Amino acid sequence: VTGKRVDELLDINDPEDIVDAVLNRSFLSLRGDDAPWDVYKAMRDTSPAYFSEKHQLWYFTGWKESLGALLHNHMDLGVGLRQAAQEGNLMAQTFAPTMLYFENPHDTLRQRRLVRQAFTHHEVASRRGAVENVVNEHLEKIKGRDRFDVMNEFADHIPVGVACGLLGVPSSDVPLFRDWTRLMAPGTGAAPSEETKRAVDEAITGLRDYMSGLIADLRKNEGTDLLSIMIRARDEEDRLSEEELVGLSIFILAAGSDTTTQLITGMVHTLHRFPDEFAKLRENRDLLPNAIEEYMRFAGPVHYTQPRLLQKDLEIDGQTFKTGDTILCSTAGANRDPKQWSNPDQFDIERDGVRHLGFSQGLHLCIGAMLARLEGEVALTALLDNFSSIEVDQPEVEYLDLGPMRGIAALNVAATPTAP
Ligand code: HEM
Repeated sequence: VTGKRVDELLDINDPEDIVDAVLNRSFLSLRGDDAPWDVYKAMRDTSPAYFSEKHQLWYFTGWKESLGALLHNHMDLGVGLRQAAQEGNLMAQTFAPTMLYFENPHDTLRQRRLVRQAFTHHEVASRRGAVENVVNEHLEKIKGRDRFDVMNEFADHIPVGVACGLLGVPSSDVPLFRDWTRLMAPGTGAAPSEETKRAVDEAITGLRDYMSGLIADLRKNEGTDLLSIMIRARDEEDRLSEEELVGLSIFILAAGSDTTTQLITGMVHTLHRFPDEFAKLRENRDLLPNAIEEYMRFAGPVHYTQPRLLQKDLEIDGQTFKTGDTILCSTAGANRDPKQWSNPDQFDIERDGVRHLGFSQGLHLCIGAMLARLEGEVALTALLDNFSSIEVDQPEVEYLDLGPMRGIAALNVAATPTAP
């Protein structure tokens, strides 16, 4: 295990040191399943809205504070990315014309109105069969086995397969996309090496060329896939430009891949950690949607949202945060704030009204949340149907710091296949 223990990485009694570790020291690779939350608790007890002098930003770990910030519409999330785009960074240039990074909230709203036409409740629900096909294809490799790696042999293959299907990429090209997605992932982390940058550029170039070609084909021969819906999407006279379509399709692939892989892997791991909850779920499958929401609250993979620069003053509970200030929300911290949740450190799949921040909130609420939930539901159902027991079979889980996401590196399990 490469991650450090809390006491090796930072001084938990020093809030400045905590913020510095979160920003600069691969904090999310901390050893121990609950270790980051011990740190969020220490921070919240000092101040749920802490101003770091060294980094000149607010670090929010409280529920009320984080929700207040996410619901404020006058925020710019793209300062750093737009700067990188100007300096010639290809990934930044590709993502700059997408909703997360616009300077003006009206541009975000406009693009979201168009893209949402491909992600309506009805549209996503209608893809269940397609998601089941991808899950079943990858289930084949682990079916009947009493040992496998949930992460690398199963979960990791599903979101890219689903995304390609939804974007209209032929299945023979899915392996190409898996490679590109894998190469692209480290590009969002802090200070990538020259070698990483080259690999990311190669992946982005490949994806850009591929998607431009695919969009041109789909324009001539429109299908029922999500990309065709985005090409067709109209809002009065408005429609998505070529540059937006290319950027969005790659952004959607990037935003929805590792995150959803971790949702599937993390669910299995968390259920294993709480055997009574696992038993309840086996007895009553109707609890699965709520179990997924509770997992997203308890250990959802994204630990913080993009840093937000205030474009207008924001008041939360009598405290004013000023225009020009930057806020970093630890949504994972907020999701276990005892002021909002009873027994926050208990994973309780029957918890009432789990309205968490794991998919963010407000203007930038994750557009793929419903799809991620669907993939989680279908994948977990397949695992429960095909294995009557699943036990994590490794001494400790190794965590990866993947930008704002905490990733499980591998999840080896011992399982009992159900009789054929
Ligand atoms: C478990 C899986 C997922 C998690 C935890 C997740 C999490 C998030 C979070 C936290 C944000 C907001 C960031 C912020 O406010 O700073 C976000 C935005 C976004 N996500 Fe997801 N996501 C997941 C899956 C997906 C999928 C499957 C897709 C698409 C197919 C997707 C597409 C997007 C897009 C397009 C945005 C930008 C929305 C905007 O800025 O208006 N995500 N996601």
